[in-house]
Formats: sequence, structure tokens, C-alpha cells
Amino acid sequence: MTLLDGKKISNDIKDEIAAEVQQMKSRGERVPHLAAVIVGSDGASLTYVGSKVRACERVGFESTLKQLPESTSEAELLELVAALNADPEIDGYIVQLPLPKHIDEQKVLMAVHPDKDVDGFHPANFGKMALELETFISATPFGIIELLQRYGVETSGKHAVVIGRSHIVGRPISILLSQKGPAGNATVTLAHSRTSNLPELCRQADIIVSALGVPKFLKADMVKEGVVVIDVGITRVPDPSRERGYYICGDVDFEGVSPKASYITPVPGGVGPMTIAMLLKNTLLARQRHGGRG
Ligand code: GUN
Repeated sequence: MTLLDGKKISNDIKDEIAAEVQQMKSRGERVPHLAAVIVGSDGASLTYVGSKVRACERVGFESTLKQLPESTSEAELLELVAALNADPEIDGYIVQLPLPKHIDEQKVLMAVHPDKDVDGFHPANFGKMALELETFISATPFGIIELLQRYGVETSGKHAVVIGRSHIVGRPISILLSQKGPAGNATVTLAHSRTSNLPELCRQADIIVSALGVPKFLKADMVKEGVVVIDVGITRVPDPSRERGYYICGDVDFEGVSPKASYITPVPGGVGPMTIAMLLKNTLLARQRHGGRG
């Protein structure tokens, strides 16, 4: 069994990006600038956004954190989005999800200028991804593809079962795995809450991507020998014995499944760090594409 070490690979990618930033600086160019918008004070979202901002510092990017109160109206948020779209200093930005219930998430995501949409959530970017055109690929699916590629995991002709049809992970990774090109050419089954024979489907899978959010859902008797397992789950499970009061648990029963797997991602330290590295990569791409402006 080989551990797909997202922490290590994400550090390699950050080193590559930092080297690129050094070169930009030595040419007298402006460095990439990422902004992150967070509305409210959800603990997990604050942690994720904090990690994204710290990662910017690590590679030499500029970063701006816009933290708005829970009571922010949709109109106020749309005003900030318009300001970020117009700001020539900002190469790319993200609006951290989920947003408070009184704000229409889709409306906000559609207001983000596609050229600054480093999350790849705008319909124009999602559509370009599906059509294999140049775009921003969402950080989590992009990170999974990068991880498979860097470990040389064969996907061509393999049967991949993706569990979960979210717009952020399940749906886009199902498209990417089926496309021509690196870490593609798989035959993909997209399973979801209405799938009737999931354990049987999983047992037929050469590759399983689980993006369900149910701790330890995937058990040893649901996988075949030699399976490749990508665990996207990051559920906070309450645990009073820990200082933080919780621990992070994946969708996969790692102890049971890992002895049968050929490759498997740990949680934490698998897909999570890759997501941040690919957001940085998209921000660098945004800077390079906006090159004329700065
Ligand atoms: N919430 C959970 N994952 C993500 C992500 O990749 N980007 C944003 N903006 N919000 C998220």
C-alpha cells in the first residue's frame, strides 16, 4: 500500500510556486494577490480561510482577508464582489462557502468575474472545464487529479466510482476522470444518495473517490483488493478528550480499507492540503493571465 501524501506533494507544489514568485519579483513584476471573503464566523470556514491566507504568505503572494458579519445582506456582499472585480490589484478571490441562509449563494458566485474566479465555481468556468477549455478547475478536484498524476496512478481504462454529486467535488471530479488527458480516460460511475447498489458498485471499482461527508462510511467489505482510494471527507467529530474538542474524520475506515488498497489518501494530510496548493496554483495562473495589468 502506498500512501498518497498530499501534505508532501502540496509542499512540493508550494515550493514550485514560491520559486516562480521569486522570478516574478526579480523581473520587477507585481506578485500574485489573492483575496478571501468570509461571511459569519463558522469555525470550520474560519480555519480553512486562515490556512489559505497563511499559504499565501508561505509562497510570497499578497493576500487580503475580508471578514464580514453574519448579518451582512446579499446586496452588501454583492457590492464587495463588484469592488473586488474592479480592483486591479486583486488577481483572484474566493467567497468561502457556505454563506448564511439569507444570501443566495448561486447569485453571489455568478457575480464573481470569471477571470478572477480562482475557485472555478462560476458557470462559465465550470462549463469550460467540462468542455476541456482553458479555465480555473476547482481546487479540490484539481488537487485530486494532480495527486494521482504525481504518483503515476493509472486511471486509463479503469472503473472509477465517485460517491457524491456536489458541484464542488463529486460532479467535477467525475467529469475530469472521464476526460482525455492526464489522470483521465477512466470509466466513471457517479453514485449519490439515490444509488441503490452502492456497496456492490464499490466492490467493482478500481478507483473510489468518496466525497460524502459521512465518517468511516467506506468499509473493508465494500472494496476490492488493490483499489485506489481518495478520501475527500473532512467531518469534525466531537471528542472531549482532545484539546480542540473534535477530531477530523474522513469518509473511509482507514484501518480496515488501507490493507486492501494499492494507494490511499490519509485524512488529514491527503486531499485537504492539495486543495490549498491548487488554489495557489490558480491564483498564479490568474496573475499570469492578467499579466498586462500590473
Ligand atoms: N467551502 C468548502 N470548500 C470550499 C472551496 O473549495 N472554496 C470555497 N470558496 N468555499 C468552500
